[in-house]
Amino acid sequence: MKHLLKLLDLTCEEIMDLLNTADQLKYELKHGIPHEHLRGKTLGMIFQKSSTRTRVSFEVGMTQLGGHALFLSSRDLQIGRGEPVQDTARVLSRYLDGIMIRTFSQKEVEDLADFGTIPIINGLTDFCHPCQVLADLMTIREYKSSLIDQKLCFIGDGNNMANSLIVGGLKTGMEVAIACPDNYRPDPVVLEFAKEYPGKLLVTSDILAAAKDADVLYTDVWASMGQEEEAAIRRKSFEGYQINDTVMAVAKPDAIVLHCLPAHREEEITSKVFEAHAQEIFDQAENRLHAQKAVMVKLMK
Ligand code: CP
Ligand code: NVA
Repeated sequence: MKHLLKLLDLTCEEIMDLLNTADQLKYELKHGIPHEHLRGKTLGMIFQKSSTRTRVSFEVGMTQLGGHALFLSSRDLQIGRGEPVQDTARVLSRYLDGIMIRTFSQKEVEDLADFGTIPIINGLTDFCHPCQVLADLMTIREYKSSLIDQKLCFIGDGNNMANSLIVGGLKTGMEVAIACPDNYRPDPVVLEFAKEYPGKLLVTSDILAAAKDADVLYTDVWASMGQEEEAAIRRKSFEGYQINDTVMAVAKPDAIVLHCLPAHREEEITSKVFEAHAQEIFDQAENRLHAQKAVMVKLMK
């Protein structure tokens, strides 16, 4: 594994290896066991979109690993004034030991990897959010012991989160059901990939059919970053695509609820369900730290 560009590039074994490393690093942190595997190394973090969790967890994670993280807003970089990503990649490769990038197009992330000589980590694109899903799988394993045959139901937009959950879920032995409006389905590339797992993916506009007997219920915002202008029309399209008491009633009685955050209460999730499952949701947010430390150790050590 040279980069983390998308989960499609990883084998099940590579994903499980990252999850095991993440568990180990979490244990070491909680027990005060030193784990400065990246002493003297520097991670550059390029952000073309906002972030709370990704920025803070990568920066803190790098500090805990004995290294340093550099926040690079695209507003201040020459990339924001048109310097090609090909040149940026080759320059930054001379200074840094790794780059985490959050941007719009997946191609930009793949280009950085093609032209640079250091590991590239995808911190979210319009296509996928692999770091988030590694933390999600880690959290599901903590609550359910195993991922095999667990049913994950995602309700809402067939967006970057849905795409990554399908790939990460299917690769690790889960059953995945996506409830989304017909014109907001997951990416065709991901749906094509899912054909390798016959009978394991359901994509439907029927929310209760998707949620039936689910072990894990998951949702995300109706309008992602960059879609702010579509917010009003999306509010109409996604009406009812919400985790609420009706949905909880058809899931397994011990179902957990996850949300990548930030959450919009009374849109994709009711305040009541959110607060009843806050423990799981904030464990999930914490696990971003541990999962990403595992990624950085694998790629940069
Ligand atoms: N879930 C997530 O990636 O959060 P941020 O946008 O705050 O980084
Ligand atoms: N789908 C959301 C995820 C945020 C973590 C977005 O892209 O804005």
